[in-house]
Amino acid sequence: MNIILLGSGGREHALAWKIKQSPKIDRLFIAPGNAGTAQVGINVPIAATDFEVLKKTVLENDIKMVVVGPEDPLVKGVYDFFKQDAELKNIPVIGPSQQGAQLEGSKDFAKAFMMRHKIPTAQYLSVTKENLSQGVGFLASLKPPYVLKADGLAAGKGVLIIDNLSEAQKELNAMLNGRFGKAGEKVVIEEFLSGIECSVFVMTDGKSYKILPEAKDYKRIGEKDTGLNTGGMGAVSPVSFVDRDFMKKVEERIVIPTIEGLKAEKIDYKGFIFLGLINVNDNPVVIEYNCRLGDPETEVVIPRIQSDFVDLLNGIAQENLAEKKLLIDERSATTVMLVSGGYPGDYEKGKIISGLDKLENSLIFHAGTVEKDEKILTNGGRVIAVTSYGKNKNEALEQSFKNAEIICFDGKYYRKDIGFDLA
Ligand code: AMP
Ligand code: GLY
Repeated sequence: MNIILLGSGGREHALAWKIKQSPKIDRLFIAPGNAGTAQVGINVPIAATDFEVLKKTVLENDIKMVVVGPEDPLVKGVYDFFKQDAELKNIPVIGPSQQGAQLEGSKDFAKAFMMRHKIPTAQYLSVTKENLSQGVGFLASLKPPYVLKADGLAAGKGVLIIDNLSEAQKELNAMLNGRFGKAGEKVVIEEFLSGIECSVFVMTDGKSYKILPEAKDYKRIGEKDTGLNTGGMGAVSPVSFVDRDFMKKVEERIVIPTIEGLKAEKIDYKGFIFLGLINVNDNPVVIEYNCRLGDPETEVVIPRIQSDFVDLLNGIAQENLAEKKLLIDERSATTVMLVSGGYPGDYEKGKIISGLDKLENSLIFHAGTVEKDEKILTNGGRVIAVTSYGKNKNEALEQSFKNAEIICFDGKYYRKDIGFDLA
């Protein structure tokens, strides 16, 4: 079968790499893709949210499935667009309906959903200009630090954690007055939770589910988790503190009520659910939902899946996921992200990347790259994810760091302490 995958990052290269290994795949298209996905499939220059052009491409190329990488097309309703189109309605989209994508697209929706289904999450209040004084009062009732979240999508920048109450009240005002545009017209104020975080991905056909191996990502630019937030500087899987007992709690307290809640509310959801979790005294608590896989977690989770991925995707599409087997590689996987100098602030693009032909024993997933005149150039803040396997995390990391050193481009930076906080 022919498949089109939407997106252009390291997550999509890892997905493309895995999909391409399936005996079920004929042609794999990636829209728009990067220089790495071009090595495993056919890049097509479509913006991920241009649904009309996507329709034309799907029909012209006899594409039988759409796999959605990033949240944007899902929140904008790509699933519903296909469902409602006479020519597309039988072509499955792997990803939730627009309503289901609200789990990521609206923090207020996600919090209310968790309340309705008794899913453990931080205490909160949603605030608009109308109930601002209630919001100010709620902030004063909390212990510092204070967590403020823009309700809508804000490119990963919509969460503020502030130590001082008057500062938090000032920021609340600024958010409601347009600091994050429309995304901040509503603000979720949350109780601060203290603990170590991890990510758990669930695949669901709307009836049953499979839990993928857990991962931990490293979001800050600086070592020891300092400095600005980024899209993610590296990841490891498995995660040492996530044992059988913790996962059982995740399944019973979070995964099952989430799937049952979606079902009870008749929300169409066939795709991936990303659980951003925090471990509070050995109890998992939901920090956030995303309606897609995470990046760079995908670059360590997907390599640990041994089963035919297209078979699993078919299970989602045909609602027989329960019959499919999910086999997991027992080895550790780690990824180290090479980024452009200056990122997550301003950075230059178009730097020549060398050394890619000298690497051994790692999987190289391109994030922000482009091919030009037979050269591979940097084309984004996050450039390349270097994924390795090992008997344990340290062995895998050693290999990732070794190859991270061999790849060269002007301004290259990476964190040398990925996994530092785990046993
Ligand atoms: P989010 O975009 O909701 O994942 O938030 C971004 C980051 O802010 C999370 O990964 C956490 O590190 C932090 N964060 C969000 N909510 C809380 C909370 N209630 N308590 C502590 N940290 C939080
Ligand atoms: N790694 C976090 C995310 O994809 O949102």
